[in-house]
Amino acid sequence: MNKALKYNISLVGSAFMCIVVLMSSCTTDPNSPGVEYMPDMYRSPSYETYSTNPFFKDSMTAQLPVAGSIGRGEWPETGSLINALPYAYPNTLEGYEAAGVELTSPFEKSAAVAAEGKVIFEKMCMHCHGEKGEGNGKLIDTGKFPPPPAYNGGALKNLTEGKMFHTITYGKGLMGSHASQLTKEDRWKVIQYIQELQQL
Ligand code: HEC
Repeated sequence: MNKALKYNISLVGSAFMCIVVLMSSCTTDPNSPGVEYMPDMYRSPSYETYSTNPFFKDSMTAQLPVAGSIGRGEWPETGSLINALPYAYPNTLEGYEAAGVELTSPFEKSAAVAAEGKVIFEKMCMHCHGEKGEGNGKLIDTGKFPPPPAYNGGALKNLTEGKMFHTITYGKGLMGSHASQLTKEDRWKVIQYIQELQQL
């Protein structure tokens, strides 16, 4: 082939490539990616978690779990089924009384369990209930909250473990529910420590 012709073809070719590059890079909208040759490469066909999704009629991508699903971390790695089983007592006075009579801890009394409960208590409960459960935590010292009753006082000295579990699960009065922070096993562990504080 003629040398000049070869040169011309590559010149025209390079010029064409330049125009293509310029066309795709020059646009008035700074947010536009320009001409897209393979849109699939840029635009993922996935759906955003909270966006509508044509696969679920009138619904979004994130679907509620099927009824009865067991949450992550709730399956009994520790060997017992307590964390996975639903809590059977309703958030009513009757539920509280029934739990108080029927519900008992799956843990045997042991220093190891109480020690684990103490760690939870110091992290999540002590700021209200106080180091010895006397109702004089740091938050109460601010004067913004009335003190909770002492665990070893008349009102709570003989409080059953089932009632404690019910209160930790649903909350009571000014104490909020701790169900989302503590697995059922953790609730029973902290209860075993509270039982020690009841005896002080
Ligand atoms: C925001 C402060 C606060 C925190 C945090 C808190 N409590 Fe309480 N708690 C209270 C108050 C106030 C009461 C009294 C509720 C009532 O009888 O109206 C109470 C009551 C209780 C009772 C008695 C329940 C009953 O049935 O009468 C138990 C047991 C208890 N708390 C355990 C815990 C445990 C365990 C934690 C930590 C996981 C905790 N609390 C965290 C404020 C708190």
